[in-house]
Amino acid sequence: MARVLVLGGDGFCGWPTALHLSAHGYEVGIVDNFSRRRIDAELGTQGLTPIASMADRLAAWKAVSGQDIEFFEVDVARDYRDLLAVIDTFMPGTIVHFAEQRAAPYSMSTPERKCYTVNNNVSGTHNLLVALVEARRDIHLVHLGTMGVYGYDAAGLEIPEGYLPVVVKGPDGTEHDRSILFPTAPGSVYHMTKSLDQLLFQFYARNDELRITDLHQGIVWGTQTKETRRDDALINRFDYDGDYGTVLNRFLMQAVVDHALTVHGTGGQTRAFIHIQDTVNCVRLAIDNPPQRGSQVKILNQIAETRQVRELAQLVATMTGAEIAFVDNPRKEAPENTLRASNATFRALGLEPIRLDDRLLEETMEIAQRFKGRYNPAIVPARSLWTKAQRPGLAPEDRGA
Ligand SMILES: NC(=O)c1ccc[n+]([C@@H]2O[C@H](COP(=O)([O-])OP(=O)(O)OC[C@H]3O[C@@H](n4cnc5c(N)ncnc54)[C@H](O)[C@@H]3O)[C@@H](O)[C@H]2O)c1
Repeated sequence: MARVLVLGGDGFCGWPTALHLSAHGYEVGIVDNFSRRRIDAELGTQGLTPIASMADRLAAWKAVSGQDIEFFEVDVARDYRDLLAVIDTFMPGTIVHFAEQRAAPYSMSTPERKCYTVNNNVSGTHNLLVALVEARRDIHLVHLGTMGVYGYDAAGLEIPEGYLPVVVKGPDGTEHDRSILFPTAPGSVYHMTKSLDQLLFQFYARNDELRITDLHQGIVWGTQTKETRRDDALINRFDYDGDYGTVLNRFLMQAVVDHALTVHGTGGQTRAFIHIQDTVNCVRLAIDNPPQRGSQVKILNQIAETRQVRELAQLVATMTGAEIAFVDNPRKEAPENTLRASNATFRALGLEPIRLDDRLLEETMEIAQRFKGRYNPAIVPARSLWTKAQRPGLAPEDRGA
């Protein structure tokens, strides 16, 4: 039976992925260091849904499915030998790597958090690659990257899956066809770590012939999957705070508590989206379709559709009657952008993506309604500012204005 180790398996994407794989006949192990739970405590936030302890989550899964999932508490950013020991014990055929600090606002909020995000994400990914080289097995690595590595303005072009075909003119004028990594344009320290991950993958795929798939994922919306619905102790995270809450979850929560939907700037930012159920399906498809040993890193865009933020706000407002409030944008980004990106590989593998339709939005609303007693309005506003120049109290000359 295929054995899969899920790094970051206590998180929003990792937990439902682990359950989905277990339900589909894979032997699953989870690695996590609970850093995300500690960041909740540090920020004074808690997700809307009550998250059971790992022991209770695993016992509940065993009770409903009859399946065991093994758990290893390891910090993947600490020492590659810690991971190697887990690999030698669990002997996976695939490792899915979700174990990174993933909030752009958190990564921009203080100098310490910038350093933490770089150290945690880049060292974690590099430790994993070194452990894979040292492991005495051929293991396929599936990494969760982000659409944010491309930046958000491809000047009307459709963003390809990772590689851009270019023609380079030689000194004698002859033309040479090349395929290069799509130039990165990260918009935060977090996105920058994902861009650095890409270079690490290129090196180890070439030098050590590691088999690597990098999934450039859009913003994930929704909360539950088929498996997490099976018991309350299996419920997934629902983050709505200014750092970790993704845009749609924040709008839905605001609508439930009669707060205006806070749109940053004009809401003209276009982003790629995917439902959590499709995330878990795509990861399984990626596991089942690995690249050959010695071939280049396989990069797939894991997205269902692209939408403008104000369009999303309008969708939620129409559904719920909520007001929309346009607030200052804390991010340093273009006020409006277009975004078109290919998801051809997953479509060819059979993905029929879930679109932002009323049915699933309503399901997420139901979760928000059910747990609104745990709602804390103080944590909703985005507090992280992207540049020193945006901080109040700085003289214009200090702001670089
Ligand atoms: N949520 C999204 O919308 C989204 C979109 C695009 C890409 N992604 C990517 O998917 C991955 C998972 O995202 P998520 O939303 O589930 O985040 P999350 O914060 O909910 O989960 C990440 C998990 O990794 C663990 N972790 C972090 N650093 C670790 C370390 N050093 N050692 C061991 N465990 C560690 C955390 O404790 C947490 O359980 C991230 O890499 C993220 O960049 C997420």
